[in-house]
Amino acid sequence: MCGIVGYIGTQAATEILLAGLEKLEYRGYDSAGIATVWEGDVNCVRAKGKLHNLRSKLEQLATSSQIGIGHTRWATHGKPEEYNAHPHLDTAMRIAVVQNGIIENYRELRDELKQKGHEFRSETDTEVIPHLIAEFLKNLPSPALPTSSSSLLEAIRQAVNHLQGAFAIAVISADYPDELIVVRQQAPLVIGFGQGEFFCASDTPAIVSHTRAVLPLENGEIARLTPLGVEIYNFAGDRLKKQPRLLNLNPTMVEKQGFKHFMLKEIYEQPGVVRASLEAYFNPDINTDESFTSPINLGLSEEIYADLEQIHIVACGTSWHAALVGKYLLEQLAGISTQVHYASEYRYAPSPLTANTLIIGVTQSGETADTLAALAMEKERRQGKEAKYQARLLGITNRPESSLGHLVPHIINTLAGIEIGVAATKTFVAQLMAFYALALDLAYHRQTVAPDKLADIIQGLRQIPKEIEATLERQEKLTEHLAHEFAETQDFIFLGRGINFPIALEGALKLKEISYIHAEGYPAGEMKHGPIALLDAKVPVVAIAYPGSVYEKVISNSQEAKARDSRLIGVTPVNDGEAAEIFNDLLPVSSVDELLSPILTVVPLQLLAYHIAARRGLDVDQPRNLAKSVTVE
Ligand code: F6R
Repeated sequence: MCGIVGYIGTQAATEILLAGLEKLEYRGYDSAGIATVWEGDVNCVRAKGKLHNLRSKLEQLATSSQIGIGHTRWATHGKPEEYNAHPHLDTAMRIAVVQNGIIENYRELRDELKQKGHEFRSETDTEVIPHLIAEFLKNLPSPALPTSSSSLLEAIRQAVNHLQGAFAIAVISADYPDELIVVRQQAPLVIGFGQGEFFCASDTPAIVSHTRAVLPLENGEIARLTPLGVEIYNFAGDRLKKQPRLLNLNPTMVEKQGFKHFMLKEIYEQPGVVRASLEAYFNPDINTDESFTSPINLGLSEEIYADLEQIHIVACGTSWHAALVGKYLLEQLAGISTQVHYASEYRYAPSPLTANTLIIGVTQSGETADTLAALAMEKERRQGKEAKYQARLLGITNRPESSLGHLVPHIINTLAGIEIGVAATKTFVAQLMAFYALALDLAYHRQTVAPDKLADIIQGLRQIPKEIEATLERQEKLTEHLAHEFAETQDFIFLGRGINFPIALEGALKLKEISYIHAEGYPAGEMKHGPIALLDAKVPVVAIAYPGSVYEKVISNSQEAKARDSRLIGVTPVNDGEAAEIFNDLLPVSSVDELLSPILTVVPLQLLAYHIAARRGLDVDQPRNLAKSVTVE
């Protein structure tokens, strides 16, 4: 939540900051602001709403300052009004701060600072930071300082040692016009190294068009950026030696490339995402004779698998839905009892700890605070126990360089490429692929699936990219047409069973997130136990009826909805005569093994949500109240 950027160098900072914020707008878009140092003062400009409002204001007020910080906000403390927008300043308006995170002890700090005469102008937690820095700056012994040559750095170091919570901040001061100071404590922050210029940002897309040499800060680190270079310290003030690394991110990955929205582009990237996963994790040759070796290559250590008895998965939102498909695969293929938890719940009510339990955190961003907190709790309670307790922590993420990557010893990189649309699409499909790989690898190790059957499943997966392509081609017009009819609908029900129940949940989540239409997903058999009371001619029902273990059951449940006058939309295989008789509308997908069907059945639901939201004229890529990385608990 919230995106921060900073620049110090030889170019005019304003445009660089605005361009950086544009790339971070997915992290929050309630309000935005930038501060620069200009003619001996802090020049701060803020605007409520989307970034273009800030841009218009800056047309009159931009400076050619070569240092500045910027922020795009997702409101936590205080309404999304201009007076709560970042940057926030101290009383004398000499220090400007942007923050991503939450300062938990801000009330105590604000009361103390008020008593000392500091004047507050916002309702935010962040505003205590510039006041606290000003207070420490005022009280610093002069002239020499033991830990650094910069008074600003030292005052910030002292201030952050008094802050509780998870935060990343960037600070500039009118009295220190050659210093940009940034701090990371459990919220992401990366530094970019250019030629005589340096950048900082919450995420790499904001700096990748300037440089690919980056250094992600670790928790408890402070960096001082000057036109001469970057110095890194820990919170105790010790200087640390660190080198930037080269980022493997192509700037065109963060462009729309002719699509109207990032979400649509990302839906169309799904065949490529599945191919990338097949190439990375599925061995090209499968040999099913006596020398049968694992067809999967996840690079995970043996100690994860040995004597494994159960798996707990923690995740949120769409990642939680991927985990539910994962549970199905892990239980049905590998025979391992698996539980899926909301990360925000697990943290406060964990399951009893045993040595033979693997915990998996699933988060595309690798920055979701609830998921990280659940895993950190799990890591802590495993400390001091046998080595296998520590080894059995696995992350599934699209950002291996994220906080998750630092937290757990093993990672499966989902290789989806950066996802900009706030609603997750291709990262979901990539997470499904990670679960197929993991479940098949475990099935191989535990010998729960015969070699020939394993080979068949993998052969089926290899067909999936072209089947997604065929589905996309088939669906584009159909979903657009249906969207036209449902643009004013107020409620939707999504039904699925077995491995497609999580897809019903995901279809409903996609629709509500971007179209603001109320939608619920249910296991089709549960409908008669309550939700059926909601049904009438105004409530369409989307049912995933895919041949396999529960096909007839879903068809019967759909009939029950039809008998209550609901319009029925079926996600079914192509040329399914029975379905054509029952459903009012069909969203056909290719015929594959039921076990692999979720990768296909989710596609029309993504497109349906997309086209309904687009038809309603909504901001598909940046839906209201949401943010791509939810870095607060
Ligand atoms: C849905 C969506 C959210 C995220 C959730 C978890 O489209 O984007 O529900 O899935 O906030 O995010 P990650 O996967 O980054 O932990």
